[in-house]
Amino acid sequence: MYRSIFKPGLFDGQLVIVTGGGSGIGRCTAHELAALGATVALVGRNADKLASVQEEIAAAGGCAHTYACNIRDEAAVQALVAQLVAEHGAIAGLVNNAGGQFPSPLKDISQKGWEAVVQTNLTGGFLMARECLNQSMAASGGAIVNIVADMWGSMPNMGHSGAARAGMVSFTETAAFEWAQYGVRVNAVAPGYIASSGMDQYPPAMRDTIRAFPKTLPLQRFGTEAEVSAAIVFLLSPAAAFITGATMRVDGGRPNVRPGMPMPEPVRQQAYNGFHLAATPRVLGGGEA
Ligand code: ADE
Repeated sequence: MYRSIFKPGLFDGQLVIVTGGGSGIGRCTAHELAALGATVALVGRNADKLASVQEEIAAAGGCAHTYACNIRDEAAVQALVAQLVAEHGAIAGLVNNAGGQFPSPLKDISQKGWEAVVQTNLTGGFLMARECLNQSMAASGGAIVNIVADMWGSMPNMGHSGAARAGMVSFTETAAFEWAQYGVRVNAVAPGYIASSGMDQYPPAMRDTIRAFPKTLPLQRFGTEAEVSAAIVFLLSPAAAFITGATMRVDGGRPNVRPGMPMPEPVRQQAYNGFHLAATPRVLGGGEA
């Protein structure tokens, strides 16, 4: 069972949607929410990956259902949310986590590639949030958490993703203003360098760069999926009832580094990992992604 730091039963009887729930941070968050009593709707494109996470959650005593859906497809998102409301009633929470990109310098990104990344990381999240609002949350309230990225300052070789994620931060702020009247809170979580399956999507040429990431941030280690999930769960929970429009960075202080200012060697480090089913990425020495 997931070792959440939050109270057992915190989400009892609540339906929470997790997009991109088939792997990485989405899978971890789905496990934590299910361990806290939520019924989790796992949404993603790959039905097999969703089914295997559903089985893991069921084996741990939790409840999850799977919904294969392309979040870039407006009609498909409308139909998905209608189906969820018909099957489960009110939607209490949405974790807009599905995302994807490919590393490339800006000069080599085609219009098609740029638009694909913007559709997945910005438009898809907007569509999911809008439908949850219009079909359920405007009537019964709820909480939305948009997963963005550490794109503060720049996002070299990921310029399309950085632009889309920055757009998602602005969407979060406007939705927080417009939807507060319905009792809907909208926040974002911006993960930095997290030891997650997503790391293995980078080309082998970047292996040494990735392995050197911890030296570039004050906490001088990779974050865990559970450390991101904890921030998401907090923002979904009543403990965050007065927080809306915020973006919570979970990045070990990466944007707080000052160029030219030496970073002291850590004398102690303490990671939090409630999720012992997490796979170590191959690039960090794990056997599987
Ligand atoms: N995960 C990554 N891209 C996605 C998409 N377009 N739809 C659903 N899940 C996704």
